Amino acid sequence: MKLSERDKAHVWHPFTQHKTAGDPLEIVKAEGVYLFDASGNSYIDANSSWWVNTHGHGHPYIGEALNKQFYTIDHTVFAGVTHPKAVELAERITERLPSHFQKVFFSDNGSTAVEIALKMVIQYWHNKGVDKHRFLAMNGSYHGDTFGAMSLGQRGYFNKPFEPYFFDADYIDFPTEENREEVLEKAEKLFRTGDFAGMIVEPMVQGAAGMRMYSSDFLDRLTRLAHDHGVLVIFDEVMTGFGRTGELFAMDHCNEKPDLTALSKGLTAGVMALGLTVTSDAIYEAFLAEETTKALLHGHSFTANPLACAVACANLDLFDRKETWKGIRNIVDWNENFATSLAKYSIIQNIRQQGTILAFDVFTGGDATYFSDIKTKAYEYFLKCGVLLRPLGNTLFVNPPYCINAEEYKKVQDAIEAFIQELG
Ligand SMILES: Cc1ncc(COP(=O)(O)O)c(C=O)c1O
Repeated sequence: MKLSERDKAHVWHPFTQHKTAGDPLEIVKAEGVYLFDASGNSYIDANSSWWVNTHGHGHPYIGEALNKQFYTIDHTVFAGVTHPKAVELAERITERLPSHFQKVFFSDNGSTAVEIALKMVIQYWHNKGVDKHRFLAMNGSYHGDTFGAMSLGQRGYFNKPFEPYFFDADYIDFPTEENREEVLEKAEKLFRTGDFAGMIVEPMVQGAAGMRMYSSDFLDRLTRLAHDHGVLVIFDEVMTGFGRTGELFAMDHCNEKPDLTALSKGLTAGVMALGLTVTSDAIYEAFLAEETTKALLHGHSFTANPLACAVACANLDLFDRKETWKGIRNIVDWNENFATSLAKYSIIQNIRQQGTILAFDVFTGGDATYFSDIKTKAYEYFLKCGVLLRPLGNTLFVNPPYCINAEEYKKVQDAIEAFIQELG
């Protein structure tokens, strides 16, 4: 029986309407920028396998670290226990973040990293005896699929059935050249109530909303406003972290830094499931007391899994290598040239780039939502060209692994331009 038939019998896929979905692609091998299917076809992984892969698949250095760790400590409980790779990772990640980031809480994925940041903010004020409960978020945000993360994300068709169970949040509009002053005024008005415990944003790039980009200047002003009014700021760097924006973290573009950050995806080079919530000593200290109830009573079976921590440390080693940053700079340059080339097509609009992410919208007069026809058409067209690209509605974007070479990038570009020309 074909793998996809066996899959159909027992597997329930993410974001999939199984009644209408076609057979899943049977990927049987991954190496470098390539994914290989069961028939021997290869595909360039142009979206880095849901934005996680940093250095290409099957990187030998990552593999060695994983193998070595397996025979050292595969897993251990983390309550009341520590291990060298968790400590090393906490030391090395805090070294790379602004200096007030000193404490690291481990979890398994981006949603949990966000969820923990929310719980830290809520309990911080609770422990201090301060009555502040409201959160500010941005329209169009995606912070994950757990309840806290959904409560602060864009409300709509993705999470409609769950909405009655969400907690209330206030939203500001996504900032544009035209509305940015109004957006800041609204934020300030809300903050002035004194009711706001925290604010969460995807810094500079909203991923799932369609790689929508806004400036670090705006973000600086928004964060400063929050800080001026005693509001704790969370940067959800789950997607933007680890080189995507051209710097290691999006916050590296900013002057005003957040109080907490959520990291995942590129944290482990896209190889292991790991999430980190990183914050300051000042926030951590609000949880220190004689009473156990003041502690953050939260944990996961796989908290600080040693295999994931070892891989994350190896990932940081690779970020210390010049060739990784050369790879990032190459993608930035190729994206710039590609953007220029895209400008000649009348059906292409809103061409935007932040570092290694290049995005643009295709307008053919049809539906522009996540479920647009273009999305499916483009996905299938690119597969035939040997490129795996998952558009977001009518937004096409590239954010490849940093090891992609000029020829491979050109293949992605050619496939996209051929698709655009075919659309007319
Ligand atoms: C900005 C952002 N936050 C959180 C998440 C959730 O991460 P995960 O899918 O690992 O739960 C994502 C996932 O795409 C994301 O892009």
